Amino acid sequence: MLKNPLSVIILAAGAGTRMKSSTPKVLHKICGKPMLFYVIQEALKLSDDVHIVLFFEAQMLREYVEKTFVNHLNAIHFHLQNHLLYPGTGGALMGEGKNLFDVKYPRVLLLNADMPLIKKEELEKLINTDALVSVGVFSLSDPSGYGRALIEDKKLKAIIEEKDATSEERAITDVNAGVYIYDVSILKAYLLKLENNNAQKEYYLTDTITLYANDGGEIAPAMLECESFLGVNSKKQLALAEEILLTRLREHAMEQGVIMHMPETIYLEADVEFIGECELEEGVHIQGKCKIISSHIKAHTFIEDSVIQDCSIGPMAHIRAHCEISHSHIGNFVEVKSSKLTGMKAGHLSYLGDCEIGKGSNIGAGVITCNYDGKQKHKSIIGENVFVGSDTQLIAPINIASNTIIASGTTLTKNVEEGDLAISRVKQENKKGFFYAFFKKNT
Ligand code: UD1
Ligand code: CA
Repeated sequence: MLKNPLSVIILAAGAGTRMKSSTPKVLHKICGKPMLFYVIQEALKLSDDVHIVLFFEAQMLREYVEKTFVNHLNAIHFHLQNHLLYPGTGGALMGEGKNLFDVKYPRVLLLNADMPLIKKEELEKLINTDALVSVGVFSLSDPSGYGRALIEDKKLKAIIEEKDATSEERAITDVNAGVYIYDVSILKAYLLKLENNNAQKEYYLTDTITLYANDGGEIAPAMLECESFLGVNSKKQLALAEEILLTRLREHAMEQGVIMHMPETIYLEADVEFIGECELEEGVHIQGKCKIISSHIKAHTFIEDSVIQDCSIGPMAHIRAHCEISHSHIGNFVEVKSSKLTGMKAGHLSYLGDCEIGKGSNIGAGVITCNYDGKQKHKSIIGENVFVGSDTQLIAPINIASNTIIASGTTLTKNVEEGDLAISRVKQENKKGFFYAFFKKNT
């Protein structure tokens, strides 16, 4: 916790119209989690008093936050913006009569919720000053879309929204990042002074900065790393934010000892954990909550919500949710779901769903666990040292004891006992000279 505690206010009440989506803007995901998740996560590292302002789809957003941050709810407070009366980023902070709602500490950090790449360490550059008011600023060669920061003699004099800017002002390349530190009494005073006589007829939070500067208030601009403060307003920016986060996740994984081939083609999510020395080939996609331990994941393999230990998986394997696979080899075009596989091999073209397979067992090409009877899912339990021949269908529920052989091409409907061979095939018949008779050809 910081030596001078502060409250955090996250502005998440915007309509997000530029996203052109029925999903609220801040619930759009990057690397598997909504943008809002990352902002709240960093805010909770900085404060035990986090306020989230909602309006559009408020109920949906609130439910998401309550479910996701269930252990932090005593630090999180929700506010409903009076959007009709007070639209805009300044309006978001206004309760009755433009008064700021109550916060715990005399200093606040204000954050736009559409900045999923923010990091506590970058925010600390802004926080660790004695200034009463401080604004995060960065420079962009193409500043379009951002409010321009007018800086004179190292002091911030005004923030001009793009829609209200003259062409001269639009040429300014210093922009408002969308993060602010405020002494609460100053913020309160200037919210009361806000008007909405601008291009969007909104109460701009940024106008409090300009008004304060006009009254002689000194505003320290904190120069920030632009990458961490990318504001996501469009699907294009969403993709860019994900690309930046992916680079961070890949670099972190490599620092942990992961070998990556063509890292720019590898997709990871925030809850993917690597332990030991792992190797990922090109096009690997790992999503959800995964633990990959000392394993080699070959090209174009897809893994979701699973634990993989001491394995070689792929190329082009599909490991769906809830698998625990250890000391095994899973080859190409094998799909696995909700299964516990230990010390086994399935080299090619199989579907293994809802099963357990023990040490030393080999699953031939084309084996299918028929786990679904049209109504319910059933389990296939396969013991140790079981040889399942190619093109076998296991009609679940089924239990195959250890040390058994299932002949190739079998449709298995009955359990198999230890030591046995199971075979179900139509007996082969060879008809002498049939080809020549059929096509009326001579030998
Ligand atoms: C805002 C800033 C701009 C800055 C940019 C940085 C204002 C007026 N402009 O512009 O100077 O360069 O961020 O990314 O602040 N919101 C509400 N209630 C509202 C409107 C918005 O809570 O009535 C929330 C949104 O959910 C969003 C945040 O405020 O999280 C910013 O709103 P947005 O519309 O994205 O502002 P920008 O146009 O990006
Ligand atoms: Ca924005």
